[in-house]
Amino acid sequence: MDAPTGDDLIRRISAEEVRALRQTVLRPGQGPESCVYPGDDLPDTVHLGAFDDAGRLVGVASLYREDRTGGPAGGWRLRGMATDPDVRGAGYGAAVLAASISHAGAVGGSELWCNARMPAVGFYRRAGFEVVSDEFEVEGIGPHVVMVRPTPPR
Ligand SMILES: CC(C)(COP(=O)(O)OP(=O)(O)OC[C@H]1O[C@@H](n2cnc3c(N)ncnc32)[C@H](O)[C@@H]1OP(=O)(O)O)[C@@H](O)C(=O)NCCC(=O)NCCS
Repeated sequence: MDAPTGDDLIRRISAEEVRALRQTVLRPGQGPESCVYPGDDLPDTVHLGAFDDAGRLVGVASLYREDRTGGPAGGWRLRGMATDPDVRGAGYGAAVLAASISHAGAVGGSELWCNARMPAVGFYRRAGFEVVSDEFEVEGIGPHVVMVRPTPPR
């Protein structure tokens, strides 16, 4: 498997396009309605996709204009971060996350935050996120923590 390369690796995609990977990676065994997140179709919301050399969508994440509870105004929330299991460890997740951080900064966001699943905490830490909450349970999914990262200046 080749490492991701090329300037068009990350592209904006539609809410519909992110849902297949959301379903298989993040909501296995749950219905398609579980893959429709609040705010998916709002005008500011951004869905990002990573594409492999064959043009296959292998990574997704979505960004919502949403303040963190207790956080500053102008926050952006990251949700639905997922890569195809066949390409794990190849850099696609990091590329989607880096593009998400860049977008939040480019639009003047104050911070980027997410509810991180515990097995993914290390992935977010590598990208500069810090844990800012106690652990909490999301029903049907498992333990999470809130993680946050400042956005790069515009
Ligand atoms: C978490 C996830 C998105 C990472 O995607 P990925 O494409 O494998 O990530 P990358 O290959 O870009 O990894 C980037 C770096 O983070 C590291 N990394 C990846 N997943 C990690 C994890 N769970 N914990 C710690 N480090 C991790 C990689 O080793 C790599 O390190 P390197 O730069 O030294 O090579 C992917 O494993 C996934 O979809 N997991 C299931 C869904 C999930 O938990 N999503 C997050 C919901 S909050």
